[in-house]
Amino acid sequence: MKILLFGKGGQVGWELQRSLAPLGELVALDFDSTDLRADFSRPDQLAGTVAAVRPDVIVNAAAHTAVDKAESEPELARTLNATAPRVVAEAARQVGALMVHYSTDYVFDGSGSRPWTEDDPTGPLSVYGATKLEGEQGVQQHCPLHLIFRTSWVYAARGGNFAKTMLRLASEREKLTVIDDQHGAPTGAELLADVTAIAIRETMRDAGKAGLYHLVAGGETSWHGYARFVLEQARALGVELKAGPDAVEPVPTSAFPTPAQRPHNSRLSTVRLQDTFGLVLPHWQTGVARMLREIL
Ligand SMILES: NC(=O)c1ccc[n+]([C@@H]2O[C@H](COP(=O)([O-])OP(=O)(O)OC[C@H]3O[C@@H](n4cnc5c(N)ncnc54)[C@H](OP(=O)(O)O)[C@@H]3O)[C@@H](O)[C@H]2O)c1
Repeated sequence: MKILLFGKGGQVGWELQRSLAPLGELVALDFDSTDLRADFSRPDQLAGTVAAVRPDVIVNAAAHTAVDKAESEPELARTLNATAPRVVAEAARQVGALMVHYSTDYVFDGSGSRPWTEDDPTGPLSVYGATKLEGEQGVQQHCPLHLIFRTSWVYAARGGNFAKTMLRLASEREKLTVIDDQHGAPTGAELLADVTAIAIRETMRDAGKAGLYHLVAGGETSWHGYARFVLEQARALGVELKAGPDAVEPVPTSAFPTPAQRPHNSRLSTVRLQDTFGLVLPHWQTGVARMLREIL
């Protein structure tokens, strides 16, 4: 099997380089790759890359993920999140490849408290959410053989993440204020990459498994609960902090105004994914605790 990966340097792309390698020959590209063009701000160049590689599977982990910045550069966000994935999907269909793509809980309006299913109506609140939704639709329309995974609150040990920010703030201050009215599941890039590899293998054997899936870790929390858990774990690992878990004060989203509006309810139901692929998605605390042991 030949796999073409776009966005190899991102949180998910980095882990995909590991998880996809055993499946076959992997051609992994980033926006500044020179031999083969993979800059999503130049969608016109992408079909040539797909035609040159002629992969069996294309995995797209590239995206415009700066949610607040997208509000002031909607054209670029749309090019990266919608136009480029559509062009890649068209090219995928032409070479008969399976197209794998990632989307987000931000396609929903965040109302209610029930976990969203794949069939629920969308209603993005931000440029990022709207462009990611357009990207999903482009992939669905132009490459029927696709896997689209909507995920949320992605973290990785590599690079910056929410847990590292909380640990830094807790080492500098005696009190932290963290939002407690947005709910979701922190999901490790490792888990996303591992499940992607399994789903690709199964879908290459049974095309009936292609489609749209929600893919997040088990359980749920708020950013406040997430921060408390990080500091509890850090303390248990012997890290000295000025602010412990009890010094994390809950505040509403309105306490931290941002250019982009975030959904309050980011809970995603993973029943379809678990049933179709026979998988169990571990609790979010398992992955976060493991990541903390890696970085501390
Ligand atoms: N992060 C989250 O919390 C989250 C939540 C829900 C869904 N998702 C989705 O999950 C997928 C992977 O996200 P991630 O967390 O791995 O994001 P990420 O770490 O920001 O990775 C995105 C990748 O896209 C690359 N990129 C940026 N501009 C590009 C361009 N012009 N051409 C080609 N590549 C370009 C980035 O390169 P540079 O780093 O060099 O800019 C980076 O390698 C995305 O589809 C995202 O929408 C993420």
